[in-house]
Amino acid sequence: MNGDRARELAGVEARALVCRLCPLAETRARVVFGVGDPNADLMLVGEAPGFHEDQQGEPFVGAAGKLLDRLLGEIGYTRSRAYIANVLKCRPPNNRDPLPAEIEACSDYLREQLRLIDPRVVLTLGNFATRLLLKRDTGISRLRGQVYPWWNRYLVPTLHPAAVLRGGEGLMEQIRADFALARDALAEAAKVADAAAEQLGLFE
Ligand code: URA
Repeated sequence: MNGDRARELAGVEARALVCRLCPLAETRARVVFGVGDPNADLMLVGEAPGFHEDQQGEPFVGAAGKLLDRLLGEIGYTRSRAYIANVLKCRPPNNRDPLPAEIEACSDYLREQLRLIDPRVVLTLGNFATRLLLKRDTGISRLRGQVYPWWNRYLVPTLHPAAVLRGGEGLMEQIRADFALARDALAEAAKVADAAAEQLGLFE
């Protein structure tokens, strides 16, 4: 990301921080825009802030976030080297599911984050992020386990870490396998980018 794009992302965040496009503005404590490296090649997209995220203004800081940090570590990443955001930037009361109108109202922020960060691989966490980005109604347990070509990038759908925490060892193996797929997709994307750069004579 060049300086212009970083400034643009900061501008999008500044807009989101005062957003009143949906009623969640009335009940939120903080807007949770996103965290990490604006130049990240790996972007993770969750569902919506929960209680702790709403208090702290950062995505995935509760129990699900601890699991996410562990899984990122296992593929050689940290949250500051990746970029983490949610479909909704504000907490739905009592952590209820996002409503279609809220997703629609919030979708421009995520679209701009994806455009400006321009990651090579997107990991969608759970049904809401996967449905929104992959435009498929099939449930996450059927869609996961594969890498999808997506707008010149790769998209890897996986389970929501909170569901994994509720669901036991079988689900842990599945989310681990999906993070490994993301790691492989990152390596593949890097190889393609290197070959393209070489062809342009940039390494001569
Ligand atoms: N669950 C999410 O989907 N996002 C968060 O930021 C926290 C929990």
